[in-house]
Amino acid sequence: MGFLSLLSALLAVNAVWAQSVDSYIATEGPVAKAGLLANIGSSGSKSSGAKPGIVIASPSTKDPNYLFTWTRDSSLVYKVIVDQFTTGVDNSLRGHIDNFVNSQKVLQQVSNPSGTVTTGGLGEPKFNIDQTAFTESWGRPQRDGPALRSTALITWGNYLSAHNNATYVTSQLWPILKLDLDYVANSWNQTGFDLWEEISSSSFFTTAVQHRSLREGAALATSLGQSAAAAEYTTQADNALCFLQSYWNPSASRVTANTGGGRSGRDANTVLASIHTFDPAAGCDAATFQPCSDKALASLYDYVNAFRSIYAINSGIPANQAVATGRYPEDVYMGGHPWYLTTLAVAEQLYDALIVWKKQGSITVTPISQPFFASLSPGAATGTFAASSSTFTTLTTAVKTFADGFVAKVAQFTPSNGALAEQYNRNNGQPLSAADLTWSYASVLTAFSARAGTVPASWGAAGVKVPASCQRSEGKSVSVTFNVQATTQFGENIFLTGSADALQSWSPDNALALNADRYPTWSVTVNLPANAAIEYKYIRKFNGAVTWESDPNMRLTTPSSGSFTVNDSWR
Ligand SMILES: *[C@@H]1O[C@H](CO)[C@@H](O)[C@H](O)[C@H]1NC(C)=O
Ligand SMILES: *[C@@H]1O[C@H](CO)[C@@H](O)[C@H](O)[C@H]1NC(C)=O
Ligand SMILES: *[C@@H]1O[C@H](CO)[C@@H](O)[C@H](O)[C@H]1NC(C)=O
Repeated sequence: MGFLSLLSALLAVNAVWAQSVDSYIATEGPVAKAGLLANIGSSGSKSSGAKPGIVIASPSTKDPNYLFTWTRDSSLVYKVIVDQFTTGVDNSLRGHIDNFVNSQKVLQQVSNPSGTVTTGGLGEPKFNIDQTAFTESWGRPQRDGPALRSTALITWGNYLSAHNNATYVTSQLWPILKLDLDYVANSWNQTGFDLWEEISSSSFFTTAVQHRSLREGAALATSLGQSAAAAEYTTQADNALCFLQSYWNPSASRVTANTGGGRSGRDANTVLASIHTFDPAAGCDAATFQPCSDKALASLYDYVNAFRSIYAINSGIPANQAVATGRYPEDVYMGGHPWYLTTLAVAEQLYDALIVWKKQGSITVTPISQPFFASLSPGAATGTFAASSSTFTTLTTAVKTFADGFVAKVAQFTPSNGALAEQYNRNNGQPLSAADLTWSYASVLTAFSARAGTVPASWGAAGVKVPASCQRSEGKSVSVTFNVQATTQFGENIFLTGSADALQSWSPDNALALNADRYPTWSVTVNLPANAAIEYKYIRKFNGAVTWESDPNMRLTTPSSGSFTVNDSWR
């Protein structure tokens, strides 16, 4: 095939591809919107008796039973509704938003197994749809819920303030927001269950959305004259932003999303964090892991690649093309299948990135993002390329094609009626797990909206700086001795690994060996960054088998100088 005919064949393939994505969007968009509204009480056709403003996760009552309301899912769903109303996409949604506000005001006050409104109850992940507490055992608390709810309500509050309705913001929204934001400010540095409700540890997604809520909460508090709250939220936002940096894993060139359970930490968590903290005014800032930042792109690249070889439906797909993706590669829940919302999140992050590159009129390839770009455009080199350059066109076209591939993947495995379950089968693409998952529909709407170039409101990420106190501690280190009491059998040894590079970034293979000179005390001394929040665990190795300590992770914050000793007992 000659060059020109090859080129036109490629363009034709691209055109067909784009056309099928366009036609999927045209049919699936309305289905997703209707599916989302059907799951909101009390008027929704599938909401089965939920109170007004209550979002059911799914109408499924068996295998799995999702007929509950989760604060995370509801807040993400309502963020879509608030965005659609406030950007003029759908002017009919105001009643829904009012219902949401009223329903959450009630739910905040419901005493539950996590506590009361003032003793930790705001971290309760889910409730019954009649607004009573869910009292069975569960992975609780989950500390992203109050942050995500704040973000949805602050977006609403900012709109109302700009539309001559500050009275309502002060009298109705602020009391609700203050409870959630105080909770986030007080508890962001405590462990909790991750967004998948499985691991109690620190979670990148949770910290990222907490940082966002505190930052925009501080701005709202300032505008309402709440200066004490504003000062506290700013202080804690700075601290959370410091901690957020610690998830970056330089040796693997990606974010380690979850530091518990012995997982690799390659997780849709990082992609979801990037899209739900997208601020179109913040450029490609890496400190807040903006979608077009080198760190977020490197993490996306690594996350996507984690699924290439493990799902049969991905086999034979070239390395520069989209594949089905799931929550994390080690997932076994319901069989560990790909999810619609995680596959769409990849597309959305890339569409968000394209919005910013076009807006700023340039694209920058750094050593961190270069492998990602080179995978799509062989030979891509580091540098900054203006919108007028052919490199800009080549790279953005390649990214757009790659992004569309993830939508096409979801389109391929969407049944003809457009209904979206939670997952699709890793071997044959058949829908499975909860039917009509509200969050799946929300993810369709946000991904399509990003592809159309619609930008959400900014939240103040522009110009945010990692505090000097974290930066100062870079390069400075302190000596930390880890002592752990552990009885072992002959041939069994104790090792240490954790969230810092010096602790081998959660690698059981490279974990540090402890000495047993003072058996049953095992010991090792390591240099760690100063002023750093660090998580770690001891592991046992015997005959090649690795046993992790039980959750949650151990934590420590290193001092600013000198040395430090921790005295632990094996758990
Ligand atoms: C302010 O917004 C609330 C909530 O939607 C609404 O009930 C109220 O009528 C609005 N007030 C004004 C003055 O627009
Ligand atoms: C969290 O931060 C507060 C100060 O804001 C501190 O008092 C508390 O000890 C910290 N908790 C942990 C677990 O680090
Ligand atoms: C651990 O024990 C040593 C003495 O064995 C002591 O000096 C040190 O302060 C202890 N560390 C903590 C954090 O309690």
